[in-house]
Amino acid sequence: RTIDSLGPLAGRKVIVRCDLNVPLKDGRITDDGRIRASLPTLGALVGAGARVIVISHLGRPDGTPDPKYSLAPVAQRLGELLGQSVAFAEDTVGSSAAEVAAGLADGQVALLENLRFDARETSKSDADRREFAAQLAALGDAFVSDGFGVVHRKQASVYELAELLPSSAGALIATELAVLYKLTATPTRPYTVVLGGSKVSDKLGVIAHLLPRVDSLLIGGGMLFTFLAALGHKVGESLLEEDQLDVVRGYLDEAERLGVEIVLPTDIVVASRFGPDAEHIVAPADGIENTPFGASGLGLDIGPDTAARFAEVIRASKTVFWNGPMGVFELAPFAAGTKTVAEALTEIDGLSVVGGGDSAAAVRVLGFTDEQFGHISTGGGASLEFLEGKRLPGLEILGWQA
Ligand code: 3PG
Repeated sequence: RTIDSLGPLAGRKVIVRCDLNVPLKDGRITDDGRIRASLPTLGALVGAGARVIVISHLGRPDGTPDPKYSLAPVAQRLGELLGQSVAFAEDTVGSSAAEVAAGLADGQVALLENLRFDARETSKSDADRREFAAQLAALGDAFVSDGFGVVHRKQASVYELAELLPSSAGALIATELAVLYKLTATPTRPYTVVLGGSKVSDKLGVIAHLLPRVDSLLIGGGMLFTFLAALGHKVGESLLEEDQLDVVRGYLDEAERLGVEIVLPTDIVVASRFGPDAEHIVAPADGIENTPFGASGLGLDIGPDTAARFAEVIRASKTVFWNGPMGVFELAPFAAGTKTVAEALTEIDGLSVVGGGDSAAAVRVLGFTDEQFGHISTGGGASLEFLEGKRLPGLEILGWQA
């Protein structure tokens, strides 16, 4: 079901679930990619004369209002991008929301305060979620689900709300799925997946599912140290998930059996401590503890030889999916690996997909533009779970996943 299935929208109150969970620093939005990604759907609804009520979460507050997680700065930015003012309700299902919703004229837009200021949004109790969804539904006449980044969550505004109003997916969900289907159905080969980020345990499902489907798997980020440790190397104070060592050994064996290349770093940027001005040195991947920092050294980025090797594999690929930074890109001395990988993705003759909030923010912070990539997904967990072949509640309820 697409927006067209909802019939004429002029004068109707349409609730739109977006994922406007953007990174903030000191109350300032550092990457507005998710707000921009919501514009096609919101623009279409405004153009159709709907009265648009946007709902979203921001961060993970504890189920009570917390000014740190207010969507107020997002309302401001959304207004700038839409070129019209966006009314902001200071609550989600209270008197402010009711008043703001009732005051909308055709083609006007409002944003309600953070859904997660109400514990029922993410409650494990079906009854609680249903009750909250019913209060949200009372504000509108139709529902458009467009928060791709949150479709893997069975939460009131993603799942139960879609059962209570005439519902459809929005343009962002359609765009995201069109690209992700290309990765799962018949990716043009060679197909390379680049995984980084801090935890192997977050990526277990995707590694298991992708191993038989890819030609190369490149491993960087904090999770690489669990792979190095699985090979018997010492990793100093680097991130390490000891409880995953056997699982990782299993993947290495499986890759060998399948003839899939798991490319692991051969050199590492090792620092004396975590910080922007920490002393650091490039060391072989099997010599992390042989630097002047000894056993207290910690790896914070892939080394230049590894980055060059990763770039070579990426450039020779026709399809590349990348999730997770290669190092601590927020600190200048440890950003080079992530930058080299991003650059290689911009150079491939084929489809490059960047998945995940962190990787998307990384490429923008490092000065790349969205247009240099085939697609930058707004979904981190959502795109990974989709690639794992999991059923996503927010898609299932819309009839978008059989
Ligand atoms: C994300 O950032 O991946 C989405 O906004 C979902 O957020 P969550 O992981 O807190 O549910």
